[in-house]
Amino acid sequence: MKTAMSRSKGVALVTGSAQGIGRAIAIRLAQDGFDVALNDLPVKNAALEDLAAEIQRGGESEGSYHPKTCVVAGDVSKEDEVKRMIDTAVDELGSLNVMVANAGIMVTTNILTATVEDWERIMTVNATSAFLCYKYAAMQMVKQGCGGRIIGASSIAGKQASANSPPYSASKFAIRGLTQAAALQLGRNGITVNSYAPGATETPMMAAVRAQDAKQDAKIQETIDASAVGYIGQPEDIASAVSYLASEEAHFITGKLLNQHVSNAN
Ligand code: NAI
Repeated sequence: MKTAMSRSKGVALVTGSAQGIGRAIAIRLAQDGFDVALNDLPVKNAALEDLAAEIQRGGESEGSYHPKTCVVAGDVSKEDEVKRMIDTAVDELGSLNVMVANAGIMVTTNILTATVEDWERIMTVNATSAFLCYKYAAMQMVKQGCGGRIIGASSIAGKQASANSPPYSASKFAIRGLTQAAALQLGRNGITVNSYAPGATETPMMAAVRAQDAKQDAKIQETIDASAVGYIGQPEDIASAVSYLASEEAHFITGKLLNQHVSNAN
């Protein structure tokens, strides 16, 4: 339920928000009353600008809080770009209250075929980026002194590995450990740290994995069929969970992995 709001709940920064789950999270947090900083790789700048315009139009038509937005394109696996992204968001929107480290990549491979290059690329884009986003967001939030929310994208593959991408599973297990460690450190500062574990969700990433080959597509369909609900998730389903983790009401939940997909395997 949306209520009329006259002032911002704070500033949320969402990485990888040009498409898929990140895009839905940015829209949802704006609807919740946050000003939103939008990040993705510089090649997706046009999509981020379109999203910023869409969020502003949404605020106007609902007659509620009109969220402010800013675009902070950059590669979140690079330390200097993460620092610049956070500094720009704070300069343009005034603070950083919610950090959603959502950006990630998936490569299908297995332990016999995966190369060191696969391992390093996936670990860097998925795990190093989360470490950098958590670290610099936490430093900013501690400096502000009014708490905050840090939320990272793990996966069902970060809880129960499947054979089809050891580096991806390892990178998503890493998010879980990082989240717990950061939560223990930051709780006394009023900063909660949690991660979400989407099951199969209909996004460009999922479409690309399914399109790779018929065997892969059939395996994903099997996972969906074996899940408790029996259908594929939509990006908005993940965004509503993140909306809760970002809310004031979730202040007593920290260090957790929110599992959004249940099957016999997990
Ligand atoms: P997606 O591929 O549709 O969107 C991810 C976005 O991240 C893209 O716009 C991409 O350009 C951006 N990105 C990639 N590397 C980046 C970097 N270095 N810097 C900045 N942006 C970067 O993916 P989707 O499906 O929306 O996934 C979002 C997150 O959820 C990912 O971390 C993914 O691993 C995770 N996830 C997705 C699931 C699914 O079924 N779709 C299941 C479990 C987890």
